[in-house]
Amino acid sequence: MLQYYEPEKDYGTPQSISDQPVTLSIDGVEVTVPAGTSVMRAAAEVGIKVPKLCATDSLEAFGSCRVCLVEIEGVKGCPASCTTAVAPGMTVRTQTEALGKLRRNVMELYISDHPLDCLTCPTNGDCELQDTAGELGLREVRYGVDGANHLAQQKDLSNPYFTFDPAKCIVCSRCVRACEEVQGTFALTIEGRGFDSKVSAGQGEAFMDSECVSCGACVNACPTATLTENTLIELGVPEHSVVTTCAYCGVGCSFRAEMKGNTVVRMIPNKDGKANEGHACVKGRFAFGYATHKDRITQPMIRASIDDAWRVVSWEDAIAHTAQRFRDIQEQYGRNSIGAITSSRCTNEEVYLVQKLVRSGFGNNNVDTCARVCHSPTGYGLKTTLGESAGTQTFASVDKADVVIVMGSNPTEAHPVFGSRLKKRLREGAKLIVIDPRGIELVNAPHIHADHHLAVTPGSNVAVLNALAHVIVTEDLHDADFIQQRCDVDAFAVWMEFIRDARHSPEAMAGATGVPAAQVRAAARLYAGAGNGAIYYGLGVTEHSQGSTAVMGIANLAMLTGNLGREGVGVNPLRGQNNVQGACDMGSFPHELPGYRHLSDEVTRALFEREWNVTLDPEPGMRIPNMFDAAIDGDFKGLYCQGEDVAQSDPNTQHIQAALESLECLVVQDIFLNETAKYAHVFLPGASFLEKNGTFTNAERRISPVRKVMPPLSGKEDWEVTVDLANAMGSPMNYQHPSEIMDEIARLTPTFQGVSYAKLDALGSIQWPCNEQMPEGTPTMHVDEFVRGKGFFALTEYVATDERANRRFPLLLTTGRILSQYNVGAQTRRTANSAWHEEDTLEIHPFDAQERGIANGDWVGIASRAGNTVLHAQISERVKPGVVYTTFHHPLSGTNVITTDNSDWATNCPEYKVTAVQATRVTKPSAWQARQRQSDSRQQQLLAEALLTESLLLESKADMNPDMKIVEGT
Ligand code: SF4
Ligand code: SF4
Ligand code: SF4
Ligand code: FES
Repeated sequence: MLQYYEPEKDYGTPQSISDQPVTLSIDGVEVTVPAGTSVMRAAAEVGIKVPKLCATDSLEAFGSCRVCLVEIEGVKGCPASCTTAVAPGMTVRTQTEALGKLRRNVMELYISDHPLDCLTCPTNGDCELQDTAGELGLREVRYGVDGANHLAQQKDLSNPYFTFDPAKCIVCSRCVRACEEVQGTFALTIEGRGFDSKVSAGQGEAFMDSECVSCGACVNACPTATLTENTLIELGVPEHSVVTTCAYCGVGCSFRAEMKGNTVVRMIPNKDGKANEGHACVKGRFAFGYATHKDRITQPMIRASIDDAWRVVSWEDAIAHTAQRFRDIQEQYGRNSIGAITSSRCTNEEVYLVQKLVRSGFGNNNVDTCARVCHSPTGYGLKTTLGESAGTQTFASVDKADVVIVMGSNPTEAHPVFGSRLKKRLREGAKLIVIDPRGIELVNAPHIHADHHLAVTPGSNVAVLNALAHVIVTEDLHDADFIQQRCDVDAFAVWMEFIRDARHSPEAMAGATGVPAAQVRAAARLYAGAGNGAIYYGLGVTEHSQGSTAVMGIANLAMLTGNLGREGVGVNPLRGQNNVQGACDMGSFPHELPGYRHLSDEVTRALFEREWNVTLDPEPGMRIPNMFDAAIDGDFKGLYCQGEDVAQSDPNTQHIQAALESLECLVVQDIFLNETAKYAHVFLPGASFLEKNGTFTNAERRISPVRKVMPPLSGKEDWEVTVDLANAMGSPMNYQHPSEIMDEIARLTPTFQGVSYAKLDALGSIQWPCNEQMPEGTPTMHVDEFVRGKGFFALTEYVATDERANRRFPLLLTTGRILSQYNVGAQTRRTANSAWHEEDTLEIHPFDAQERGIANGDWVGIASRAGNTVLHAQISERVKPGVVYTTFHHPLSGTNVITTDNSDWATNCPEYKVTAVQATRVTKPSAWQARQRQSDSRQQQLLAEALLTESLLLESKADMNPDMKIVEGT
């Protein structure tokens, strides 16, 4: 929805959550607000604006600037309205002559030490100091600027995204408090006293050298031009804004894209966004420049073989060519010889259309999604135990948790806005148990110390979960009433006998888990004894050969302790990409129609058959690994890959590359020529999240609007391309707008029954299920009963992975994401986030490094049974001896050259988190890396040739027709 630019209303102090009403009079207006509300906020609620500088509604009141003074009958002097709470019958005056004078005096002092450059200041028109001076009618400043002042202070330009200009600082400390209260990083302080007070990052360091994580909370909070986005300095104050949703992680933060024409000036976290409540991280807040990066490919291209140069073609030709190739392949090799991969980066509507195209146009069920390689075990595990493949809570629910388990997840890096919220709750006193092979930040963050860190050996999650459950049942700490009322008691009895067995005790499991039994016992007692115990987990749980078993183990623990069905508890998978939940919901798996309904269900099939006017194949199609195996076997020949970079993200890269090379028609739809596109025969240019309409569904099941803020660079939104392809293949699709796709989803999917774009516009976002019973969505699931009826305790026998350390491969490699990076890096590598981590490195414990003669920064060869690669060493005690860690952000790192094709027994989710490796000091990159570099530059050359030919062609056409204009970028 387009809105003309107007900063969001600031009520000055946070909302009070009291249910006790208080009535008072402000400037003759009667106001009723919850007890604990400040006078400033009460006034703002009825449109009375009290001037302010040090107050903002995202921070607790501080009371330092003294411009918000008011008069209160019966109260001596003029109290600050931001720090004064309302009282029944209070009579407040906010606008009197005396107050005006007092306030102007204060403002004069501020302005006398402030540069008088408003007209040339980049934030002219978007500055609270300027506005307040205007509102107070300040016309002159009696104190000269020739006395002692701060005007000559140097700017800190170290951060690539924002500038710190201390000459403009009024030392209101909003930035310091934002860093503490909102972000929880404590990177800023006010150094010195009185006149010498100044804002300082770290120990007087540059922002980039300090603890700052570039979340932007201080920039948001700053009422002056002291902390300003570099894009705003460059482009000026925005003209209008559009509310949309971040396209990075599964937190799903809501943003206002603030625009000048079709250019994004900045992304401001939306205070009304229910997933983020006005907070953001460096990716969503600043790293949007990839959308207009010079590497964007904006024209369709085709080629006969991957050794040929690309040929730029029209959309019509590209679509007709693709449809013909797919039809020819099916004719020659059979109906099942083609398929598609959907992406969790795409919108719900786009994903829905791709699976519809496969089922109704390709006539098979060969559709799978990248969730296969991340959270497919969550789907299986939670569906089996609780009946629904999704997390149970809102993020806000953590505010009510007493004990939190974080398992196989690193929220402050991978889900930073939730990480900040969690840290806030922990600072308030909630207890924390971290189960992770690495010492993640939460183990020891400012003002936070994990009560227990169970540093499990990679691959032993199920063993540790069973040991926790064993302690709870053998020490009689379980919630018998909850189990009796809410769970399948027969299944529970079987499970009870299983888990009581001494083989699951922490002592018996210690060898496998590497965790001392006493620690496991203490952690079990802490969780079971919590009023509210909440579990948050990530890919460190799912990406294992027993990923589904571990998810069931987590659900068992929550049911065992009665920690489901209310706020503050629950089982919460933290989804990696922005729309993992949605991609799964939309029927991307080869065995399920939208809404997780199995293809074998005739009633469901009939529903879709009627709507789509086709007969559906009742047999499940191929999963991604099956597609690749079949490609190598010669049975699978055509693939439509939308927004997914399997050549970099999937395990055992050499196997994937061989499979892609075996295809006769690989169609890649993406915004960049990604690694997979280097094997493609058709390239369909994609649209970034800024260029399209649709919805994403986050880890809370929250469906949020994605709104077009600029026209698609390629001329088409992604859903339009799928529609064109379907029509060209003789499978009619007729939508004028993605809202019509959502209407169809709602018609066919019970959990989405009440969802529409109109409702999303009205409510901002909706957590499914949304239906007649829950017309505004469902914040907490399984409240009175589980979706499957009775909760099911699944048996979770621990089976050690085949991928064990041995003499040849004595170390265990595990992988993860870090804050500045997003997955395979197609987006973040094309932003200034590269300033933080230019390459993937190998974290290795000092003991293992020393044993191998490896020093910090050395090249290290890492060999597994799948392959080998070379990375620089980073010696770190974050990993324990025997464990090494890396990220997979840069294609040439070849992280997935070494990961194996071991996978989860139930879902085939790859076991990325455990690879037995050896590390040795080497002097140069691996043979694979050398080959890859060569093949990359060859592909880049083929692309450059195509683009050059196209531009020469355009020039010669222009020569022939002088009226024709060459548009830059075509
Ligand atoms: S950007 Fe975030 S982390 Fe950095 S100083 Fe500001 S509030 Fe703190
Ligand atoms: S940098 Fe901005 S928010 Fe921080 S103290 Fe200075 S004026 Fe206030
Ligand atoms: S936390 Fe996730 S959704 Fe929010 S701004 Fe960061 S990357 Fe985007
Ligand atoms: S806004 Fe109240 S003292 Fe600053």
